[in-house]
Order: sequence, then C-alpha cells, then structure tokens
Amino acid sequence: MSPPPVSAVYGQPLPELALAPPGAVQVSPLVPGSAALDEIPPGSVEAMVVAAPPGTIERRYVLALALRALRPGGALTALAPKEKGGSRIGKELAAFGCEVHETPKRKQRICETTRPETLAGLDTAIEAGRPRIAESLGLWTQPGVFSWDRPDPGSVLLIRALPKLTGRGADLGAGVGLLSRAVLTSPDVTELALVELDRRAHECSRRNVLDARASFHWQDARTGPELSGLDFMVMNPPFHDGGAEDKSLGQAFIRRGHAILRKGGSLWIVANRHLPYEGVLAELFASVALRAEGGGFKVYEARK
Ligand SMILES: C[S@@+](CC[C@H](N)C(=O)[O-])C[C@H]1O[C@@H](n2cnc3c(N)ncnc32)[C@H](O)[C@@H]1O
Repeated sequence: MSPPPVSAVYGQPLPELALAPPGAVQVSPLVPGSAALDEIPPGSVEAMVVAAPPGTIERRYVLALALRALRPGGALTALAPKEKGGSRIGKELAAFGCEVHETPKRKQRICETTRPETLAGLDTAIEAGRPRIAESLGLWTQPGVFSWDRPDPGSVLLIRALPKLTGRGADLGAGVGLLSRAVLTSPDVTELALVELDRRAHECSRRNVLDARASFHWQDARTGPELSGLDFMVMNPPFHDGGAEDKSLGQAFIRRGHAILRKGGSLWIVANRHLPYEGVLAELFASVALRAEGGGFKVYEARK
C-alpha cells in the first residue's frame, strides 16, 4: 500500500483561483488512477484543495471527507462556481465547525479554512454520501454518479430497443451497469467490457454486474482499454465535461466505438434528440438506422 499523501487535490481547480499544494496527490474519482479520498487515514494530510462538485449530498460528503483527512490546523481551500454550489460551501464548512474566509473571484466562491480540533456533523454527511443500494434502481449507486437515484430515460429507451446481442462487446461509459446488465441477459454474449471514468460508478458496477463474461475498466473510454474486433457496442455517451455541455465528448465516444468494432459490427447508441451525432455516425459507418425515439431521446443502430 502507498503511504498516505501529505497534500491532496480534488479535481482540477483553476490555477489562477487556487494552486494545488506542491506534490498534491489527486483524489477525485473522475481521474483514473487517483487515490481514494475515503481511504486516507484521518488526520494525516497537511493541506488540500477541493474543486467542489455541484450536487449537495456529494459536495458535503467530499468536504466532510477532506476535513476528516486533514490534521488539526491543516489548510483547506474549497471552491466552485457560484451557481454550481460555490455560494453554499462557506455555510457548509461553517456547519462542520470551521471558520471560513470567503473570496469571490471570476464567478467562483473560494473558501479557505483550517481544520479545527473539533468538527461537527462529519459522520452524517459521510453516511449520506456513501454507496448504497437505491430502491428506485435496485442497484448499487452513490450520490454524484450519473442518474444515481433513478434509471435514465434514455438508457431505458435503449434497453427496450436492444435486440439479443451476440459475441464480444463493450459498454462505453457504463455507469453503474444498467445497460450492461440488459446486454448480459443475452446468452449469446460471450464478453462485455465495461469502461467507465468515474471510480464510484465503476465500483458500483462491479457489485451490480456479477457475471463472469464482464470485465471492468476504470479508464477514459476515448483512449482505453485496448480492445479490437468487437461484434457490438452499446453507449449512452456523456455530453458534459466538467459541468459544461460538450458535444465533442459523445462524438469522440462514437469514433472510439467505430475504431474497436469489427467490420459489420454494430454500435447501439442513445442520445438526447438535440445532440448532433448523426453527422459523425453517417461519416464513419456503412449504415445508420433510427431504431427508437421518445421522451426527447433517439436510439440509433450503426453498422460498420
Ligand atoms: C450518460 S451516462 C450513461 C451511464 C450508463 N451507461 C447508463 O446508461 O446508465 C455516461 C457515463 O459516461 C461516463 N463518462 C464520462 N466521461 C467518460 C470518459 N471519458 N470515459 C469513460 N466514461 C466516461 C460518466 O461517468 C457516466 O457514467
């Protein structure tokens, strides 16, 4: 086991707003290979910078874990855009017992504090943000992962449209494993690679997809893992990167999907109706067919 970090950074704070401490270890679950914030021994870290996530339960969980990891007197800087939770960080840290110095800059709120000897309410915030089985999904999930407390309607539309798939395939951006579970109901599927950037979702999927045909990859699907000659691919690609809408992310998923399919292999994709994926599908694939539509989503099957 590697020694606990002396300093840590969560996410990618803008350097002009907050500089990560020298040698800081990355602890965001959205960075493959990062250290797990919840596994850092309490009271061991000197300094931490947190680019705080937007969801309230997730943010309070991260702030509570950061304070737990810091030694008394250790420095914490937490920041976020004002409209994406930044305006609440100060109050949230104060409720944990911190004295906070807050600075507005470039539409963000930057909150600086040092960890007091005594903290309040950490356990409750950590409990609220932990992985759990959500009744609405019947699956392991965690606040902060995609559609964590309800099935995504786009994924449901894709699941309904899917035929019984055959052979070797992949689920790019597999989340907690909703699509993969549906794919694996076909006995003719021989292998399925679940590729996911978010460690929390990746770990939940390992608990949700108990099937020897599945393999799990905590990786950026645009660059890994090494796969080739696949018979099929399913995806409900992300269209947000760091909170901002990013259509190129979905397009990169499609390009990667195309690259690792065999000739004649099929890509099944669901997307919000307004997202411009037809162009890249038509450019790359031999044929593209609309297979389902509804609730603001569309499902395509593209054959290489
Ligand atoms: C729209 S969700 C779909 C999740 C799941 N397939 C489902 O249907 O419920 C997209 C998923 O892609 C993941 N993701 C985002 N960027 C990624 C990347 N570069 N590589 C792999 N996964 C990524 C997100 O964390 C999220 O779980």
